[in-house]
Amino acid sequence: MADRRDLLLLDAELRDAWGIDLGSMEDPGWWESLERDCPSELVTRFREIHQAYSQAEIGGGPQAERAERSFFDLAADDRLLGRVHSHRRPVIIDCAALVDDLLVSRGIVGPVLDAGCHAGYLSAWWARHESLEVVGCDLSRPALELGRRRCARLGRAAELVEGDLLPEGDEGRFELIVAVDVLPEEIGSGLRGLERLVSGLSENGWLVLSTGHRLDVAWSPLERVSGGLAELGLGFVDAGCLGGVVSPEQEPLGQNVFVFRRGGGGGLPGDCVERSRHDWPGFLEHAGDPDVPDREKSVAWYRARRR
Ligand SMILES: C[S@@+](CC[C@H](N)C(=O)[O-])C[C@H]1O[C@@H](n2cnc3c(N)ncnc32)[C@H](O)[C@@H]1O
Repeated sequence: MADRRDLLLLDAELRDAWGIDLGSMEDPGWWESLERDCPSELVTRFREIHQAYSQAEIGGGPQAERAERSFFDLAADDRLLGRVHSHRRPVIIDCAALVDDLLVSRGIVGPVLDAGCHAGYLSAWWARHESLEVVGCDLSRPALELGRRRCARLGRAAELVEGDLLPEGDEGRFELIVAVDVLPEEIGSGLRGLERLVSGLSENGWLVLSTGHRLDVAWSPLERVSGGLAELGLGFVDAGCLGGVVSPEQEPLGQNVFVFRRGGGGGLPGDCVERSRHDWPGFLEHAGDPDVPDREKSVAWYRARRR
């Protein structure tokens, strides 16, 4: 399990190499600091693109897809990348730590895919493991270009490629695929995306999946999800939670995460969402402790403290 030293290194790398730090787009001061630090044309463009993306309906067709693509392309601007992704910092930290734990505890080596990697901050982190071939895949060319430069600077051999969830020709290649906040939150297109990802797994490959909203809300009804997983030969292994305090001014945010295995595991439990919350009450107690620094208020930090 990730310990304090690992988490300090991760936190420092996210902050220093990628600008991902405490702070939320929902803090009143966030927009003020953007206006102070960036040219007004960039701020105006970001406001427009952010508004269009926030208003786009889930499953809203090509217009919503365009709004999402424009948002992530612009978020690859050097001046925006860290500020925008800071809003998801606890999820990013917890996802990095959860995957590190899985790699070690299950002895996973070889090709690993970070599906929807954006600039590849997570791919770069996992590429520390010399036994892995880390591939990050995204639709956003500007994000991939920025990510390649940053990975080169960090000396990390992550390969960042353009592709729709799975790089072309990579069927059956990956021992582990991580898909966090990338699949559509509408059951039809979500399950189609899942099918595409599963086609990229090796015979006994692992999948880490997190939908931003709870699984039974993002993909409803859960029985259909359960049937879809069974058809894809994907068994349930574990459920957990990613998230924490984004900024001192905001309530903690958490989201469910699931580990599946191709050709293994069991059926999706009907209470999988409830199970995913097992660490959340303990985490909230940890987060309420005034002696814990805000940057250490995420589920991975809570678990590291309990060791
Ligand atoms: C919210 S970000 C998540 C980034 C990263 N997975 C994380 O958890 O920090 C979503 C990313 O998924 C990418 N994306 C969305 N749909 C995609 C698709 N069909 N194929 C590849 N990337 C996609 C977006 O361009 C964006 O970079």
